[in-house]
Amino acid sequence: MLKVEKVCAGYGRMQILHDVDLTLGEGEIVALVGANGAGKTTTLRAVCGQIRPTAGTITFDGAPTLGRRPDELVRDGLVHVPEDRALFGTLTVEENLRMGAWTRSHAQAETALREVLELFPVLAERRGQVAQTFSGGQQQMLAIGRALMAGPRLLMLDEPSTGLSPKLTWAMLEAIERIRDGGVSVLLVEQNAKQALAIADRAYVLESGSTVLHGTGAELAGSAEVRKAYLGL
Ligand SMILES: Nc1ncnc2c1ncn2[C@@H]1O[C@H](COP(=O)(O)OP(=O)(O)O)[C@@H](O)[C@H]1O
Ligand SMILES: [Mg+2]
Repeated sequence: MLKVEKVCAGYGRMQILHDVDLTLGEGEIVALVGANGAGKTTTLRAVCGQIRPTAGTITFDGAPTLGRRPDELVRDGLVHVPEDRALFGTLTVEENLRMGAWTRSHAQAETALREVLELFPVLAERRGQVAQTFSGGQQQMLAIGRALMAGPRLLMLDEPSTGLSPKLTWAMLEAIERIRDGGVSVLLVEQNAKQALAIADRAYVLESGSTVLHGTGAELAGSAEVRKAYLGL
């Protein structure tokens, strides 16, 4: 459903991505792992239309994304949870979630709200609480919940485990598997490679702006060479 081919992109005259290639099929969790500064966030920005590739092609459901605005891509089901989460701190959990449903009908929003509160019970318990009082883990769940309110078919997550304890990270990864099992494909960006590879159907290693390796999550996690050279494990 997503195909990224030989994509080059950057900021101004500074090129960050060099020939990034990746594909993601219906119902998959695909992880994109690599060191800090490798270009993971930049790759997601290029896919969701925030920055424009200078070369290469990106297609979603067979149609090129180039020239389409991020909000148009959201309506088509491509939804991005940015690195900084971008919550509305003074709004409540429920208000933040409802903001995510701006592309949807009232009935769709009500159904989605029920599903999100079921997926993350902590959000149901704190429905009326303002977001800025939340811990890092709760804020991350809220950011993912808000993205789910848009009814994504492909959810792109930028380092969802940042700031979480190992225990909360595993809970988050389990939630991501449940999201996939519910029919939403996931592109998961993580510096925390070990955990991401554990749930990924397939994965790519990004090094200095290029995709240098790919394989199943288990293949990459199991290769001594990969672990040493790229994953710092
Ligand atoms: N908005 C920006 N303007 C200029 N350079 C940026 C910007 N965002 C990121 N970069 C640079 O692009 C490179 C890749 O960054 P990024 O995609 O954030 O990597 P990662 O997410 O893998 O840590 C880094 O050298 C970073 O300094
Ligand atoms: Mg990043």
